[in-house]
Amino acid sequence: MTDPFVNAFREAAPYIHYLRGKTLVVGIASHLLDSGSLNALSADFHLLAALGIRLVLVHGCDTQIARFCPQNQRNHAIYPQRRIIDDNALQFAKHFCGAIQFDFQAALSLGVARSPQRPPRLRLIHGNFLSAKPLGVHGGVDMQWAGQVRKVDAAAIEDALAMQAIVLISPIAASLGGQSHVLSMPEVAAELAIALQAEKLVFLTQENGIRHANGQLLANLTAQETHHLLSEKHFSISEQAILTSALHALQQGISRVQILSGSQNGGLLRELFTRHGAGTSIAQDSFMNVRPAHERDIADIITLIKPLEERGILLPRSPEYLAAHIHEFFALEHDRQIYGCVAMKTFSDSPNDAELACLVVSPDARDGGFGELLLEKVLQHARQMGKQRLFALSTHTADWFLERGFQAASAADLPAQRLAEYQSNGRQSKIFILNLNT
Ligand code: ARG
Repeated sequence: MTDPFVNAFREAAPYIHYLRGKTLVVGIASHLLDSGSLNALSADFHLLAALGIRLVLVHGCDTQIARFCPQNQRNHAIYPQRRIIDDNALQFAKHFCGAIQFDFQAALSLGVARSPQRPPRLRLIHGNFLSAKPLGVHGGVDMQWAGQVRKVDAAAIEDALAMQAIVLISPIAASLGGQSHVLSMPEVAAELAIALQAEKLVFLTQENGIRHANGQLLANLTAQETHHLLSEKHFSISEQAILTSALHALQQGISRVQILSGSQNGGLLRELFTRHGAGTSIAQDSFMNVRPAHERDIADIITLIKPLEERGILLPRSPEYLAAHIHEFFALEHDRQIYGCVAMKTFSDSPNDAELACLVVSPDARDGGFGELLLEKVLQHARQMGKQRLFALSTHTADWFLERGFQAASAADLPAQRLAEYQSNGRQSKIFILNLNT
Protein backbone atom coordinates (compact mmCIF):
# COMPACT_ATOMS: atom_id res chain seq x y z
CA MET A 1 0.00 0.00 0.00
CA THR A 2 1.44 3.34 -0.99
CA ASP A 3 0.95 6.39 1.16
CA PRO A 4 -2.18 8.29 -0.04
CA PHE A 5 -0.20 11.51 -0.16
CA VAL A 6 2.36 9.92 -2.46
CA ASN A 7 -0.40 8.51 -4.66
CA ALA A 8 -2.17 11.84 -4.85
CA PHE A 9 1.02 13.68 -5.67
CA ARG A 10 1.84 11.21 -8.41
CA GLU A 11 -1.66 11.56 -9.79
CA ALA A 12 -1.24 15.33 -9.85
CA ALA A 13 2.18 15.32 -11.50
CA PRO A 14 1.07 14.99 -15.14
CA TYR A 15 -1.49 17.79 -14.68
CA ILE A 16 1.10 20.05 -13.08
CA HIS A 17 3.37 19.42 -16.01
CA TYR A 18 0.61 20.00 -18.54
CA LEU A 19 -0.73 23.22 -17.02
CA ARG A 20 2.62 24.95 -16.61
CA GLY A 21 2.68 28.04 -18.78
CA LYS A 22 -0.97 27.59 -19.80
CA THR A 23 -3.63 30.27 -19.45
CA LEU A 24 -6.60 29.57 -17.23
CA VAL A 25 -9.60 31.88 -17.17
CA VAL A 26 -11.51 31.56 -13.91
CA GLY A 27 -15.01 33.03 -13.62
CA ILE A 28 -16.00 33.61 -10.00
CA ALA A 29 -19.74 33.74 -9.38
CA SER A 30 -20.95 36.77 -7.45
CA HIS A 31 -22.47 34.61 -4.66
CA LEU A 32 -18.98 33.59 -3.62
CA LEU A 33 -17.92 37.17 -3.00
CA ASP A 34 -20.31 37.41 -0.06
CA SER A 35 -19.42 34.19 1.58
CA GLY A 36 -15.84 34.74 2.72
CA SER A 37 -14.57 32.17 0.19
CA LEU A 38 -12.05 34.66 -1.12
CA ASN A 39 -9.26 33.82 1.32
CA ALA A 40 -9.37 30.08 0.68
CA LEU A 41 -9.61 30.68 -3.06
CA SER A 42 -6.70 33.09 -2.99
CA ALA A 43 -4.51 30.49 -1.31
CA ASP A 44 -5.24 28.18 -4.24
CA PHE A 45 -4.62 30.95 -6.77
CA HIS A 46 -1.23 31.45 -5.14
CA LEU A 47 -0.47 27.80 -5.56
CA LEU A 48 -1.57 27.78 -9.21
CA ALA A 49 0.54 30.84 -9.94
CA ALA A 50 3.53 29.22 -8.22
CA LEU A 51 3.12 26.24 -10.57
CA GLY A 52 3.49 28.59 -13.52
CA ILE A 53 -0.19 28.72 -14.49
CA ARG A 54 -1.22 32.04 -16.01
CA LEU A 55 -4.39 33.17 -14.26
CA VAL A 56 -7.07 35.53 -15.49
CA LEU A 57 -9.81 36.02 -12.91
CA VAL A 58 -13.23 37.50 -13.62
CA HIS A 59 -15.83 38.09 -10.97
CA GLY A 60 -19.54 38.78 -11.17
CA CYS A 61 -21.77 41.25 -9.35
CA ASP A 62 -25.27 40.03 -10.17
CA THR A 63 -26.22 38.84 -6.67
CA GLN A 64 -25.20 42.14 -5.14
CA ILE A 65 -27.13 44.19 -7.73
CA ALA A 66 -30.17 42.02 -7.11
CA ARG A 67 -29.90 42.62 -3.39
CA PHE A 68 -29.13 46.31 -3.34
CA CYS A 69 -30.90 47.50 -6.46
CA PRO A 70 -33.99 45.27 -6.54
CA GLN A 71 -35.81 47.57 -8.96
CA ASN A 72 -33.42 46.39 -11.72
CA GLN A 73 -35.32 43.37 -12.98
CA ARG A 74 -34.44 41.00 -15.77
CA ASN A 75 -35.77 41.47 -19.26
CA HIS A 76 -37.45 38.09 -19.29
CA ALA A 77 -38.69 38.24 -22.85
CA ILE A 78 -35.47 39.10 -24.66
CA TYR A 79 -32.50 38.69 -22.32
CA PRO A 80 -33.77 36.42 -19.58
CA GLN A 81 -30.26 36.15 -18.14
CA ARG A 82 -29.64 39.89 -17.97
CA ARG A 83 -30.83 42.66 -15.67
CA ILE A 84 -31.73 46.15 -16.74
CA ILE A 85 -29.09 48.46 -15.25
CA ASP A 86 -30.32 51.93 -14.37
CA ASP A 87 -28.12 54.85 -13.19
CA ASN A 88 -28.43 53.74 -9.63
CA ALA A 89 -27.41 50.14 -10.35
CA LEU A 90 -24.45 51.28 -12.46
CA GLN A 91 -23.29 53.49 -9.62
CA PHE A 92 -23.67 50.64 -7.17
CA ALA A 93 -21.80 48.21 -9.47
CA LYS A 94 -18.85 50.61 -9.76
CA HIS A 95 -18.59 50.89 -5.98
CA PHE A 96 -18.94 47.19 -5.49
CA CYS A 97 -16.36 46.23 -8.15
CA GLY A 98 -13.89 48.78 -6.78
CA ALA A 99 -14.25 47.37 -3.30
CA ILE A 100 -13.89 43.79 -4.53
CA GLN A 101 -10.65 44.63 -6.27
CA PHE A 102 -9.20 45.71 -2.92
CA ASP A 103 -10.60 42.60 -1.26
CA PHE A 104 -8.78 40.48 -3.84
CA GLN A 105 -5.57 42.38 -3.22
CA ALA A 106 -5.93 41.83 0.48
CA ALA A 107 -6.80 38.15 0.17
CA LEU A 108 -3.84 37.54 -2.13
CA SER A 109 -1.43 39.14 0.34
CA LEU A 110 -2.63 36.94 3.15
CA GLY A 111 0.04 34.81 4.73
CA VAL A 112 2.64 35.79 2.19
CA ALA A 113 5.25 36.93 4.71
CA ARG A 114 4.78 34.08 7.14
CA SER A 115 7.43 31.54 6.33
CA PRO A 116 10.99 31.55 5.03
CA GLN A 117 9.79 29.43 2.06
CA ARG A 118 7.13 32.00 1.35
CA PRO A 119 5.86 32.26 -2.18
CA PRO A 120 6.95 35.34 -4.09
CA ARG A 121 4.70 38.33 -3.76
CA LEU A 122 1.95 38.05 -6.34
CA ARG A 123 1.26 40.89 -8.67
CA LEU A 124 -2.36 41.62 -9.33
CA ILE A 125 -3.18 43.77 -12.32
CA HIS A 126 -6.49 45.20 -13.36
CA GLY A 127 -7.17 47.65 -16.11
CA ASN A 128 -9.21 48.52 -19.15
CA PHE A 129 -8.76 45.18 -20.85
CA LEU A 130 -12.30 45.09 -22.20
CA SER A 131 -14.48 47.39 -24.21
CA ALA A 132 -18.25 47.19 -24.14
CA LYS A 133 -21.27 47.96 -26.23
CA PRO A 134 -24.79 48.57 -24.97
CA LEU A 135 -27.35 45.77 -25.12
CA GLY A 136 -29.75 48.45 -26.34
CA VAL A 137 -33.52 48.61 -26.50
CA HIS A 138 -35.33 45.33 -27.06
CA GLY A 139 -39.00 44.57 -27.23
CA GLY A 140 -39.63 48.13 -26.12
CA VAL A 141 -37.44 47.61 -23.04
CA ASP A 142 -34.33 49.73 -22.68
CA MET A 143 -31.58 47.67 -21.05
CA GLN A 144 -29.91 51.00 -20.17
CA TRP A 145 -26.36 50.41 -18.84
CA ALA A 146 -26.42 46.67 -19.33
CA GLY A 147 -23.80 45.87 -21.93
CA GLN A 148 -21.97 43.13 -23.73
CA VAL A 149 -18.34 42.56 -24.60
CA ARG A 150 -17.27 44.47 -27.68
CA LYS A 151 -13.59 43.60 -27.70
CA VAL A 152 -10.94 42.02 -25.51
CA ASP A 153 -7.48 43.60 -25.51
CA ALA A 154 -5.75 40.23 -25.52
CA ALA A 155 -2.31 41.72 -26.20
CA ALA A 156 -2.49 43.87 -23.07
CA ILE A 157 -3.55 40.89 -20.97
CA GLU A 158 -0.72 38.81 -22.43
CA ASP A 159 1.72 41.55 -21.43
CA ALA A 160 0.42 41.52 -17.89
CA LEU A 161 0.64 37.72 -17.73
CA ALA A 162 4.18 37.87 -19.06
CA MET A 163 5.04 39.97 -15.99
CA GLN A 164 3.91 36.99 -13.93
CA ALA A 165 0.90 38.89 -12.71
CA ILE A 166 -2.58 37.59 -12.05
CA VAL A 167 -5.06 39.58 -14.09
CA LEU A 168 -8.28 40.51 -12.36
CA ILE A 169 -11.22 41.68 -14.44
CA SER A 170 -14.42 43.19 -13.16
CA PRO A 171 -17.63 43.01 -15.16
CA ILE A 172 -17.72 46.69 -16.09
CA ALA A 173 -16.28 48.15 -19.26
CA ALA A 174 -16.60 51.34 -21.25
CA SER A 175 -18.20 51.69 -24.66
CA LEU A 176 -16.85 53.79 -27.50
CA GLY A 177 -19.40 56.37 -26.42
CA GLY A 178 -17.40 56.80 -23.20
CA GLN A 179 -20.02 55.21 -20.99
CA SER A 180 -19.60 52.40 -18.49
CA HIS A 181 -21.67 49.26 -18.92
CA VAL A 182 -22.28 46.34 -16.63
CA LEU A 183 -21.44 43.01 -18.27
CA SER A 184 -22.33 39.43 -17.54
CA MET A 185 -19.54 37.49 -15.79
CA PRO A 186 -20.02 34.23 -17.76
CA GLU A 187 -19.98 36.12 -21.04
CA VAL A 188 -16.84 38.06 -20.08
CA ALA A 189 -15.10 34.86 -18.95
CA ALA A 190 -15.94 33.06 -22.19
CA GLU A 191 -14.86 36.00 -24.38
CA LEU A 192 -11.59 36.28 -22.46
CA ALA A 193 -10.91 32.56 -22.81
CA ILE A 194 -11.59 32.75 -26.55
CA ALA A 195 -9.50 35.87 -27.13
CA LEU A 196 -6.59 34.48 -25.08
CA GLN A 197 -6.97 30.98 -26.52
CA ALA A 198 -6.96 29.78 -22.95
CA GLU A 199 -6.31 26.15 -22.15
CA LYS A 200 -9.31 25.97 -19.87
CA LEU A 201 -12.23 28.01 -18.72
CA VAL A 202 -13.23 27.36 -15.12
CA PHE A 203 -16.38 28.60 -13.40
CA LEU A 204 -16.45 28.71 -9.62
CA THR A 205 -20.05 28.68 -8.46
CA GLN A 206 -22.17 28.03 -5.43
CA GLU A 207 -23.16 24.55 -6.61
CA ASN A 208 -20.83 21.55 -6.79
CA GLY A 209 -21.21 21.36 -10.53
CA ILE A 210 -23.94 20.67 -13.03
CA ARG A 211 -26.69 18.36 -11.93
CA HIS A 212 -29.16 16.24 -13.78
CA ALA A 213 -32.85 17.07 -13.14
CA ASN A 214 -32.82 14.11 -10.71
CA GLY A 215 -30.09 15.80 -8.65
CA GLN A 216 -27.19 13.58 -9.73
CA LEU A 217 -23.91 15.45 -10.23
CA LEU A 218 -22.68 15.10 -13.82
CA ALA A 219 -18.90 14.73 -13.83
CA ASN A 220 -18.34 14.69 -17.58
CA LEU A 221 -20.49 16.19 -20.31
CA THR A 222 -20.12 16.74 -24.01
CA ALA A 223 -21.30 19.96 -25.63
CA GLN A 224 -24.20 18.08 -27.15
CA GLU A 225 -25.31 16.63 -23.82
CA THR A 226 -25.08 20.11 -22.31
CA HIS A 227 -27.33 21.52 -25.05
CA HIS A 228 -29.83 18.84 -24.32
CA LEU A 229 -29.73 19.47 -20.56
CA LEU A 230 -30.25 23.19 -21.11
CA SER A 231 -33.42 22.45 -23.04
CA GLU A 232 -34.80 20.57 -20.02
CA LYS A 233 -34.95 23.91 -18.20
CA HIS A 234 -34.23 22.79 -14.66
CA PHE A 235 -31.37 25.22 -14.12
CA SER A 236 -31.28 28.51 -12.24
CA ILE A 237 -30.73 31.65 -14.29
CA SER A 238 -27.10 31.90 -13.22
CA GLU A 239 -26.50 28.27 -14.21
CA GLN A 240 -28.16 28.88 -17.56
CA ALA A 241 -25.90 31.87 -18.15
CA ILE A 242 -22.81 29.83 -17.29
CA LEU A 243 -23.82 26.88 -19.46
CA THR A 244 -24.69 29.12 -22.42
CA SER A 245 -21.29 30.83 -22.21
CA ALA A 246 -19.55 27.47 -21.71
CA LEU A 247 -21.09 26.17 -24.93
CA HIS A 248 -20.08 29.31 -26.78
CA ALA A 249 -16.48 28.95 -25.56
CA LEU A 250 -16.35 25.27 -26.57
CA GLN A 251 -17.70 26.10 -29.97
CA GLN A 252 -15.00 28.72 -30.37
CA GLY A 253 -12.25 26.21 -29.69
CA ILE A 254 -11.75 26.14 -25.92
CA SER A 255 -11.14 22.48 -25.24
CA ARG A 256 -12.45 22.22 -21.70
CA VAL A 257 -14.88 24.11 -19.47
CA GLN A 258 -14.97 23.06 -15.83
CA ILE A 259 -17.69 24.08 -13.39
CA LEU A 260 -17.37 23.47 -9.68
CA SER A 261 -18.03 24.82 -6.24
CA GLY A 262 -15.91 27.78 -5.22
CA SER A 263 -16.74 27.37 -1.57
CA GLN A 264 -15.43 23.85 -1.06
CA ASN A 265 -11.96 24.19 0.36
CA GLY A 266 -9.41 23.00 -2.22
CA GLY A 267 -12.08 22.12 -4.79
CA LEU A 268 -10.19 23.91 -7.54
CA LEU A 269 -7.06 21.89 -6.80
CA ARG A 270 -9.04 18.68 -6.79
CA GLU A 271 -10.63 19.58 -10.12
CA LEU A 272 -7.37 20.47 -11.82
CA PHE A 273 -5.01 17.93 -10.33
CA THR A 274 -6.99 14.72 -9.94
CA ARG A 275 -8.31 12.44 -12.63
CA HIS A 276 -11.87 12.53 -11.41
CA GLY A 277 -12.00 16.22 -10.59
CA ALA A 278 -14.51 17.78 -8.22
CA GLY A 279 -17.27 19.20 -10.38
CA THR A 280 -18.42 19.02 -13.98
CA SER A 281 -16.11 19.01 -16.95
CA ILE A 282 -17.54 19.84 -20.38
CA ALA A 283 -15.70 19.05 -23.61
CA GLN A 284 -16.69 19.52 -27.21
CA ASP A 285 -16.54 15.79 -27.86
CA SER A 286 -16.71 12.63 -25.93
CA PHE A 287 -13.94 12.15 -23.40
CA MET A 288 -12.91 8.67 -24.31
CA ASN A 289 -11.10 8.27 -27.54
CA VAL A 290 -9.63 5.09 -28.95
CA ARG A 291 -6.78 5.87 -31.33
CA PRO A 292 -3.78 4.09 -32.84
CA ALA A 293 -0.96 3.87 -30.29
CA HIS A 294 2.32 5.71 -30.79
CA GLU A 295 5.82 5.06 -29.57
CA ARG A 296 5.35 7.65 -26.85
CA ASP A 297 2.55 5.49 -25.39
CA ILE A 298 4.85 2.53 -24.72
CA ALA A 299 5.66 3.49 -21.13
CA ASP A 300 1.94 3.90 -20.36
CA ILE A 301 1.10 0.59 -21.98
CA ILE A 302 3.77 -1.13 -19.91
CA THR A 303 2.28 0.37 -16.74
CA LEU A 304 -1.13 -0.94 -17.78
CA ILE A 305 -0.13 -4.48 -18.65
CA LYS A 306 2.54 -5.11 -16.05
CA PRO A 307 0.24 -6.08 -13.16
CA LEU A 308 -1.58 -8.50 -15.45
CA GLU A 309 1.66 -10.03 -16.68
CA GLU A 310 2.78 -10.50 -13.10
CA ARG A 311 -0.43 -12.38 -12.33
CA GLY A 312 0.03 -14.55 -15.41
CA ILE A 313 -3.11 -13.17 -17.06
CA LEU A 314 -1.24 -11.70 -20.00
CA LEU A 315 1.80 -12.96 -21.84
CA PRO A 316 4.88 -10.92 -20.93
CA ARG A 317 5.78 -8.32 -23.53
CA SER A 318 9.15 -6.59 -23.39
CA PRO A 319 9.61 -2.89 -24.20
CA GLU A 320 11.51 -4.03 -27.30
CA TYR A 321 8.58 -6.20 -28.36
CA LEU A 322 6.20 -3.28 -27.83
CA ALA A 323 8.43 -0.91 -29.76
CA ALA A 324 8.50 -3.33 -32.68
CA HIS A 325 4.74 -3.98 -32.58
CA ILE A 326 3.31 -0.65 -31.47
CA HIS A 327 1.58 -0.25 -34.85
CA GLU A 328 -0.67 -3.17 -33.87
CA PHE A 329 -1.92 -1.37 -30.76
CA PHE A 330 -4.77 1.00 -30.03
CA ALA A 331 -4.83 3.21 -26.95
CA LEU A 332 -7.87 4.36 -25.01
CA GLU A 333 -7.17 7.95 -24.14
CA HIS A 334 -8.98 10.20 -21.71
CA ASP A 335 -7.66 13.59 -20.89
CA ARG A 336 -4.26 12.87 -22.40
CA GLN A 337 -3.91 9.78 -20.23
CA ILE A 338 -3.97 6.19 -21.37
CA TYR A 339 -6.62 4.09 -19.63
CA GLY A 340 -6.58 1.02 -21.82
CA CYS A 341 -5.10 -0.71 -24.80
CA VAL A 342 -5.71 -3.51 -27.23
CA ALA A 343 -3.71 -5.05 -30.04
CA MET A 344 -4.80 -6.58 -33.33
CA LYS A 345 -2.37 -9.09 -34.78
CA THR A 346 -2.44 -10.40 -38.32
CA PHE A 347 -0.89 -13.54 -39.79
CA SER A 348 0.96 -13.82 -43.07
CA ASP A 349 -0.04 -17.47 -43.42
CA SER A 350 -3.71 -16.74 -42.87
CA PRO A 351 -4.73 -13.41 -44.39
CA ASN A 352 -8.41 -13.72 -43.46
CA ASP A 353 -7.72 -13.99 -39.74
CA ALA A 354 -6.84 -11.49 -37.06
CA GLU A 355 -6.29 -11.86 -33.34
CA LEU A 356 -7.46 -9.54 -30.64
CA ALA A 357 -4.76 -9.45 -27.96
CA CYS A 358 -3.64 -7.57 -24.91
CA LEU A 359 -7.04 -6.05 -24.12
CA VAL A 360 -6.55 -4.12 -20.88
CA VAL A 361 -8.55 -1.42 -19.10
CA SER A 362 -6.99 0.35 -16.14
CA PRO A 363 -8.51 -0.41 -12.72
CA ASP A 364 -9.24 3.35 -12.49
CA ALA A 365 -11.61 3.13 -15.44
CA ARG A 366 -13.40 -0.18 -14.93
CA ASP A 367 -17.19 -0.40 -15.23
CA GLY A 368 -17.28 2.30 -17.86
CA GLY A 369 -17.78 -0.04 -20.79
CA PHE A 370 -14.31 0.81 -22.07
CA GLY A 371 -13.48 -2.82 -22.85
CA GLU A 372 -16.37 -2.63 -25.34
CA LEU A 373 -14.98 0.54 -26.89
CA LEU A 374 -11.65 -1.19 -27.46
CA LEU A 375 -13.32 -4.31 -28.85
CA GLU A 376 -15.45 -2.13 -31.12
CA LYS A 377 -12.36 -0.45 -32.49
CA VAL A 378 -10.70 -3.77 -33.29
CA LEU A 379 -13.86 -5.08 -34.96
CA GLN A 380 -14.07 -1.98 -37.09
CA HIS A 381 -10.40 -2.16 -38.01
CA ALA A 382 -10.55 -5.89 -38.78
CA ARG A 383 -13.57 -5.41 -41.03
CA GLN A 384 -11.90 -2.52 -42.82
CA MET A 385 -8.94 -4.78 -43.52
CA GLY A 386 -11.28 -7.39 -44.96
CA LYS A 387 -10.71 -9.94 -42.20
CA GLN A 388 -13.26 -12.73 -41.86
CA ARG A 389 -12.48 -14.11 -38.42
CA LEU A 390 -11.26 -12.59 -35.20
CA PHE A 391 -9.57 -14.80 -32.61
CA ALA A 392 -9.07 -14.12 -28.95
CA LEU A 393 -7.07 -16.26 -26.56
CA SER A 394 -7.74 -15.95 -22.89
CA THR A 395 -6.96 -17.80 -19.69
CA HIS A 396 -9.28 -15.81 -17.40
CA THR A 397 -12.06 -13.99 -19.21
CA ALA A 398 -14.00 -16.61 -21.15
CA ASP A 399 -17.40 -15.20 -20.20
CA TRP A 400 -16.56 -11.73 -21.39
CA PHE A 401 -15.88 -13.01 -24.92
CA LEU A 402 -18.83 -15.43 -24.98
CA GLU A 403 -21.20 -12.64 -23.89
CA ARG A 404 -19.99 -10.58 -26.83
CA GLY A 405 -20.76 -13.15 -29.48
CA PHE A 406 -17.47 -15.08 -29.63
CA GLN A 407 -17.71 -18.87 -29.91
CA ALA A 408 -15.46 -21.36 -28.17
CA ALA A 409 -13.02 -22.85 -30.66
CA SER A 410 -10.12 -25.27 -30.61
CA ALA A 411 -6.43 -25.13 -31.38
CA ALA A 412 -7.14 -26.68 -34.77
CA ASP A 413 -8.90 -23.43 -35.77
CA LEU A 414 -5.79 -21.32 -35.22
CA PRO A 415 -3.59 -20.14 -38.09
CA ALA A 416 -0.50 -22.38 -38.31
CA GLN A 417 1.83 -19.59 -37.14
CA ARG A 418 -0.28 -18.95 -34.08
CA LEU A 419 -0.70 -22.63 -33.37
CA ALA A 420 3.06 -23.12 -33.09
CA GLU A 421 3.24 -20.31 -30.54
CA TYR A 422 0.23 -21.68 -28.68
CA GLN A 423 1.83 -25.08 -28.35
CA SER A 424 5.18 -23.73 -27.29
CA ASN A 425 4.05 -21.36 -24.53
CA GLY A 426 2.06 -24.04 -22.70
CA ARG A 427 -0.48 -21.57 -21.31
CA GLN A 428 -3.44 -23.65 -22.43
CA SER A 429 -5.47 -20.53 -23.07
CA LYS A 430 -9.06 -20.91 -24.14
CA ILE A 431 -9.63 -20.01 -27.76
CA PHE A 432 -12.55 -17.91 -28.97
CA ILE A 433 -13.51 -16.94 -32.44
CA LEU A 434 -15.87 -14.36 -33.88
CA ASN A 435 -17.12 -14.61 -37.43
CA LEU A 436 -16.94 -11.11 -38.90
CA ASN A 437 -19.19 -11.80 -41.84
CA THR A 438 -22.36 -12.13 -39.84
N1 ARG B 1 -7.86 17.13 -13.62
C1 ARG B 1 -8.28 16.91 -14.94
C2 ARG B 1 -8.38 18.22 -15.68
O1 ARG B 1 -8.23 19.25 -15.11
C3 ARG B 1 -9.55 16.12 -15.01
C4 ARG B 1 -10.72 16.76 -14.35
C5 ARG B 1 -11.96 15.95 -14.51
N2 ARG B 1 -13.07 16.66 -13.95
C6 ARG B 1 -14.32 16.27 -13.95
N3 ARG B 1 -15.20 17.04 -13.40
N4 ARG B 1 -14.66 15.16 -14.53
O2 ARG B 1 -8.56 18.26 -16.86
